[in-house]
Amino acid sequence: MRNPRHDILFEPIQLGPVTAKNRFYQVPHCTGMGWRRPKTLAAMREVKAEGGWGVVNTEYCSIHPTSDNDAFPFCALWDQEDIAAHHLMTSAVHNHGALAGVELWIGGGMVVNLGTRIPALGLRNRPQTDFTVLNPGQNRQIDKQDIRNIREWHRNAAKRALEAEFDIVYVYATHGYLLSEFLNPETNTRSDEYGGSLENRVRLIRELIEETKEIVDGKAAVATRFSVGLEDAESYDAFGLLSDLPDVWDLTVPDYNVEMGNSRFIKEAALTNSVEKARAMTSKPVVAVGRFTSPDTMARLLKEGVQDMIGAARPSIADPFIPNKIDAGQIEDIRECIGCNVCYAHDSLGVPIRCTQNPTMGEEWRLGWHPEKVKRTPKAEKVLVVGAGPAGLEATRVLGQMGHSVLLAEADRTLGGRVTREAKLPGLAEWARVRDWRLTQIDKLTTVEVFPQSPMTADSVLELGVSRVLIATGAKWAKDAVGRHSDIGFTQTDPTMIVTGDKILDGSKINGKKIVIYDDDHYYFGSICALELRKRGHEVVLITPAGRVCGWGAYTDEQEASTHALIKAGVEIITNKTIDTVASGRAELSCVFSNTPSTIACDAVVPLTRKIPVTDLYDDLISNKNRYTEAGIQSITRIGDAEAPSIIAAAIHSGYRAAIDLGQDIDLAQRYGRREHPATTC
Ligand SMILES: Cc1cc2nc3c(=O)[nH]c(=O)nc-3n(C[C@H](O)[C@H](O)[C@H](O)COP(=O)(O)O)c2cc1C
Ligand code: SF4
Repeated sequence: MRNPRHDILFEPIQLGPVTAKNRFYQVPHCTGMGWRRPKTLAAMREVKAEGGWGVVNTEYCSIHPTSDNDAFPFCALWDQEDIAAHHLMTSAVHNHGALAGVELWIGGGMVVNLGTRIPALGLRNRPQTDFTVLNPGQNRQIDKQDIRNIREWHRNAAKRALEAEFDIVYVYATHGYLLSEFLNPETNTRSDEYGGSLENRVRLIRELIEETKEIVDGKAAVATRFSVGLEDAESYDAFGLLSDLPDVWDLTVPDYNVEMGNSRFIKEAALTNSVEKARAMTSKPVVAVGRFTSPDTMARLLKEGVQDMIGAARPSIADPFIPNKIDAGQIEDIRECIGCNVCYAHDSLGVPIRCTQNPTMGEEWRLGWHPEKVKRTPKAEKVLVVGAGPAGLEATRVLGQMGHSVLLAEADRTLGGRVTREAKLPGLAEWARVRDWRLTQIDKLTTVEVFPQSPMTADSVLELGVSRVLIATGAKWAKDAVGRHSDIGFTQTDPTMIVTGDKILDGSKINGKKIVIYDDDHYYFGSICALELRKRGHEVVLITPAGRVCGWGAYTDEQEASTHALIKAGVEIITNKTIDTVASGRAELSCVFSNTPSTIACDAVVPLTRKIPVTDLYDDLISNKNRYTEAGIQSITRIGDAEAPSIIAAAIHSGYRAAIDLGQDIDLAQRYGRREHPATTC
């Protein structure tokens, strides 16, 4: 039953001519699906609506081929086919009583139109301002006729949005795209009525809001996404000039690293101070984000008048059913986002988003997975899961919910495996949510038994009388430096100088003053180990063969903040170097371009270049098929890092998949090769 404290979250609200049934608003967010995967997209958005979100939006949706962000997946409303594609989404969302919104988008100098190959229209002559891409091309500086065209294209896109039956149509005026360029006095150097004074710089936004309102003519609300606050005092003056114009404000801050900050650096409700001030300046409803997962925080912000609706992207990805769970008073069932930004990373990589917490995200259409429903098995089996890390916990949870009888054996005293160990490192505390949510769910399952401190041998497995075994024994960091940049690893090693990443994870004392971390992993772990060792008082040198540390962190939006943290902590960073030998109190390095050698004195080296799956038990079991079949075991399967070490999201997905596929004769090509083919009906 719903806690009366949270009633306010379920009050309907008028957004211009339309009414949202509650205060849960899924803000626009990309999906890695874009216009190429409309069915995948519609199925995913439908699950959000089913989960209780009052408003479900698209991702950024191009108004015209001059705004093309290929190869990043984006939506488009260019023609009739796009209308039909979006209609799949709007009708799916409407089926559950939610409103559907579309974020009309004008790329400006942030894009180079790699797909359409016509010049992008930016405010100045300059290269693409998205510096994560570094395309050599420049945009064309727009003139007055271009502005007239853009206004017409926006009006036409708004008409198509109505045809697609959207209830909310956006004017998207932030995130560095064209309308932000107009607002910014540094990028807007025009001397006509669109440049100079603030009134002139907001002119195009004003025109677009007014014209969109004219076009939708009371059949849809007009929303405006806009940034206020942080260091940008003028943003409130700009907001003041427009404050009562749109039907609803979707407010954020002028720094994506804060708005969508990684949980290593940004916590829940980080935008509150910025939004509150603007909320006091308008009579229109305000939506704002803040990686909200706590219903108490949500209700408090509405009661205090900080905002009128709870905007969410990542929380709605991690748990599309947050609204329904709050409504039902099932607070402990909320699968809280951990702020890792793995979702965002995969959008940037051009594939459907995935989520560390929610393995079904992105698989709603392709595999028919659902975040809350698993089919009961027609044939309950007795399954042993060995290892209570992320893959083992997830497999156990899903198997139990399917009705299987599960024994979960963990060698360690504590459950959670790498998640538990990594969550103790600087900035990663929220990662424990991966373990905690699963343990809460497992605790409710009567057919699951959990055995900590229970190391298994092949003999003990055979005695259990189980029919299936899942091996989720994880992986260990290797000592040898074989990895992306080396096929052979260190050519000479003094083993006493090598410290594995697992030693740092275990909190073991590291002997020596000066420690070198060799990071050919390129994600968070090397940087976090460096911070941890600094905390423990070591001198730390972080060496990477890449040009920057935490290279993959560019996708999760943490590279900048992470590198800043290293610099602040006094970690010495050496880039573009491999380590070839470790001996006699030093590491010998080579420049990755010229092979020029250099030397660094150190007491220990931590190679973070690859992990080795822990498969002793698996190898032992499968080495004698007769023995295990005689014991009644029909299958033995490795999952998670024990199969192929990767990010935690992959381990969770692996555990989920192993449970769903258990005992089935799967045709991998047929099941996992399913795609949307425009030329055929799937
Ligand atoms: C995967 C992903 C894609 C996003 N794509 C968009 C987008 O297309 N348009 C947009 O305005 N914001 C986009 N955002 C930003 C979100 O709308 C939101 O402002 C941000 O994630 C902070 O909200 P949250 O803390 O609820 O996640 C995206 C965020 C994520 C995580
Ligand atoms: S991938 Fe990470 S940040 Fe994204 S929704 Fe899932 S838990 Fe949150």
